[in-house]
Amino acid sequence: MKRAIISDIHGNLEALTAVLADIERQGVSSIYCLGDIVGYGPNPKDCVDLARQFTVSVLGNHDQGALFDPEGFSSGAERAIFWTRSQLEMIDNDADAARQRWDFLCELPRQVREDDLLFVHGSARNPLNEYVFPEDIYNPRKLNRIFSLIPQSCFQGHTHVPGVFTEDCRFSSPADLGNQYTLGSTKVMVNVGSVGQPRDGIPDASYVILENNRLEFRRVPYPLEETVQKIFGIPELDNFLGERLRDGR
Ligand SMILES: [Fe+2]
Repeated sequence: MKRAIISDIHGNLEALTAVLADIERQGVSSIYCLGDIVGYGPNPKDCVDLARQFTVSVLGNHDQGALFDPEGFSSGAERAIFWTRSQLEMIDNDADAARQRWDFLCELPRQVREDDLLFVHGSARNPLNEYVFPEDIYNPRKLNRIFSLIPQSCFQGHTHVPGVFTEDCRFSSPADLGNQYTLGSTKVMVNVGSVGQPRDGIPDASYVILENNRLEFRRVPYPLEETVQKIFGIPELDNFLGERLRDGR
């Protein structure tokens, strides 16, 4: 089975469209999404409409923030969430479509397990909100605790920084790995990076293809200046949310 695993689309339609085209070129039909379909970006409705076709999606903290009361967000992120909610609540002339988007987001599970694979937004311990950053390799208590909750391999997003954590408290970036990794007998956490707001210094959209036990980290360029200009045109979205796309920060 060949799966594409994507995360953190964040309402970036240009990035999602480019990634979906790349996924199709790779001959992959099974798409797993690790949450944060909306938030920050200018096209939440279009991204939800595309996500409804995915094989599996789990809930992210920004999806939850748009649905319920946002907690623990920066003021810029909170403003973006309230704007996102207003977009999702807007009936336009198609009340059915609006309701279907809302129902889809409301029904997203917090985690999905398939055999030895776990799919979450943040971490196995706190699927919605916990960040596992590369520097957490210096916090073995934290990593060991999270690894104890993982069947074999956990796929996650949330930090927007792709790479592989191993049980010996190491982190390898896709560059360290030559963009390839083979799942073996030891436990791993795989961060697939972000489609719509990469933060590892590379502006291209990030995602992963998993075929049997072989992982490939992929980067996809997209017309990010279109997204940046849309963000600049929406007063409720901080210009910083556009500027950061140019540097992948
Ligand atoms: Fe995110």
